[in-house]
Amino acid sequence: MKDFKRYLITAALPYANGPIHIGHLAGVYLPADIYVRYLRAQKRDVKFVSGSDEHGVPITIRAMKEGVTPKEIVDKYHAIIKDSLAQMGVSFDIYSRTSNQIHHKTASDFFINLYDKGLFEEKETEQYYDEKAKTFLADRYIIGTCPVCGNPNAYGDQCERCGSSLSPELLINPRSALSDATPIKKKTKHWYFPLQNYESFLKQWILEEHKEWKNNVYGQCKSWLDNGLQSRAMTRDSNWGIKVPLPDAEGKVLYVWFDAPIGYISATKELTDNWKDYWQSEDSRLIHFIGKDNIVFHCIIFPAMLKAHGDFVLPDNVPANEFLNIEGDKVSTSRNWAVWVDEYLKDFPGCEDVLRYVLCSNAPEAKDNDFTWKDFQDKNNSELASIFGNFVNRTFVLMHKLCGGKVPKLHEDLMDDLDRTLIEEIKNSKSKVENAIEEFKFREALFEVIDLSRKGNKYMQEKEPWKKAASLERLAASEENGSKLEAHSSQQLIDNCLHLCLQLTANLAILINPFLPFTAQKLLHMMKVVDKILDWENAGSIKLLSVGYSLRAPEILFRKIEDKEIEMQVEKLKNGLVRTDTSSQLPDAVNQKSETSNQQPHEINHIKSEIVYDDFAKLDLRVGKIVSADKVAKADKLLKLEIDLGFEKRTIVSGIALHFKAEEIVGKQVVVVANLAPRKMRGIESNGMILMAEDKSGKLHFVNPDDETDAGSVVS
Ligand code: 2FM
Ligand code: ZN
Repeated sequence: MKDFKRYLITAALPYANGPIHIGHLAGVYLPADIYVRYLRAQKRDVKFVSGSDEHGVPITIRAMKEGVTPKEIVDKYHAIIKDSLAQMGVSFDIYSRTSNQIHHKTASDFFINLYDKGLFEEKETEQYYDEKAKTFLADRYIIGTCPVCGNPNAYGDQCERCGSSLSPELLINPRSALSDATPIKKKTKHWYFPLQNYESFLKQWILEEHKEWKNNVYGQCKSWLDNGLQSRAMTRDSNWGIKVPLPDAEGKVLYVWFDAPIGYISATKELTDNWKDYWQSEDSRLIHFIGKDNIVFHCIIFPAMLKAHGDFVLPDNVPANEFLNIEGDKVSTSRNWAVWVDEYLKDFPGCEDVLRYVLCSNAPEAKDNDFTWKDFQDKNNSELASIFGNFVNRTFVLMHKLCGGKVPKLHEDLMDDLDRTLIEEIKNSKSKVENAIEEFKFREALFEVIDLSRKGNKYMQEKEPWKKAASLERLAASEENGSKLEAHSSQQLIDNCLHLCLQLTANLAILINPFLPFTAQKLLHMMKVVDKILDWENAGSIKLLSVGYSLRAPEILFRKIEDKEIEMQVEKLKNGLVRTDTSSQLPDAVNQKSETSNQQPHEINHIKSEIVYDDFAKLDLRVGKIVSADKVAKADKLLKLEIDLGFEKRTIVSGIALHFKAEEIVGKQVVVVANLAPRKMRGIESNGMILMAEDKSGKLHFVNPDDETDAGSVVS
């Protein structure tokens, strides 16, 4: 790999419209912090930047609902989020905010740079407008009845019940999510960035030159690029945000996804006069830590903007994580199905590293993962306390008891195979942890550290220094010939064991430091050594603690977590009481996704309410065959299908165009709801609906007979 001189590590700027939950920590802030702490321990030149994302519609809506100003909202949550992250040990060099003047100027200048190059397309389009709330509405903020499944609360871009991709025009009885008013169409002018012009560059840069990116990231980029890119509006109608720096742009602000990533640049400027070394020098390595819903913005849109500007480096990697569910269910802020970091800190004071440990060892690195309180307790009690904590504690207790509280000598001539194997394990663990971290496999890296402490325990168990100590007492009391000599060599064997266990403990401090920094500090305190010992280059050595050096008494590193504490947390979660200080009364999708409008996999754990057989029997399900498939003009999500039902042919409009190419599905058998009332979509009458299965990742699959059967066959 290229040898970089400098590192700029960014962590997604959280929206300042609510506190952060453990999903944010597991997905973004802990992996970023682990990586940064590791780089710092290697004495690399690194800057770690983040801050609050204070613009965008979710913030204005929240303010409107609460009857306060957007500024009051962002001031409040900026402080809460900043504090939670600091308390969890996330060690930013700067945690800034996008309302800062320096950011407004940086983002405006960036916009003007592209504008002066003539890169924007200026377009007037008709968009939905809420006359009551006096605001244009993004698709997400329009709610209505789903034309496919009848869900009365489908969003203008997607129905969360049946998973269909929609557009506001398709909704029956559309209404504004803000005021309930029926939206009207109104003309408005915006500046569009033609992403399609960067398609071939992005294909080369990502698909050819960055094959090493994580599968989930590479796969999502490939799917965006394969589907073709389109111009995106980089401005919005709003009074909250960065004013469009053009004369004829009254009431227009920069799109929040235009300004937010520029926030990384502004924060670096705020941090150091040498910001250009990090952003404009080829020997600097830029890495973005984000969650999966941010992939398109960091891998496609922002790099295209940076490329268009021309002065900046592009991200070398974007190790995005998937989502963390809670007790088997997706995080839902409106149902309060979340574990809030600020509440955790109050409920478990002094247990920051426990949460860091549990979230890292269970991080959603390759797929969505689940956090459960039971697992939290088990990981603390049976891994941290029983393995890591226990090893350190035994080492210190025995060293005080059997070696006078001082680092004993290593008698190399008396070393046996067990000693030599342990020394080898200590040496090897450095490169194991290092390799895993370099590949952003933090779970694996952490496992290696715990495994080293497990090996320490095993070694001590096999050496049994306490038995030698017992025989030592016996020998000391004896007058027999040679007993003095025997006692001497027994003591030397005890010394060897504890010498190595102490050196192993010092190694554990170095290796665990990126993951559990509070624990590493406690270890330093116990060993009475300075931070410098944590330099990564020291890992693997068994000469970290000097012989004869007196050490402190052991501290308990991890207390036991009791059943009742866990029961209380589960109870709190299941009560579902919405936090009075955070409730926005907004549906989740509006709270969290707002302007991202990325497809999210649809909920698969939630079973709809029970029906009786007669309800089911009303459905007339038939096998049909797709005889033709065509794209519907001006509707990128829709395909017009001709389906042969044996006794007749049907036209069905289906929202699957983003998932399948028209020509690939002709000839496929499908299952059709044949007695669904006809509906018009984009002027085409749709007579029925085809059944699709959606997997956890949001991918659609056809539902059809396992071998070809007659068209028209009844499915029951
Ligand atoms: O998804 C989010 O929470 C966004 N506020 C992340 C922005 S990251 C960057 F672009 F600033
Ligand atoms: Zn639906």
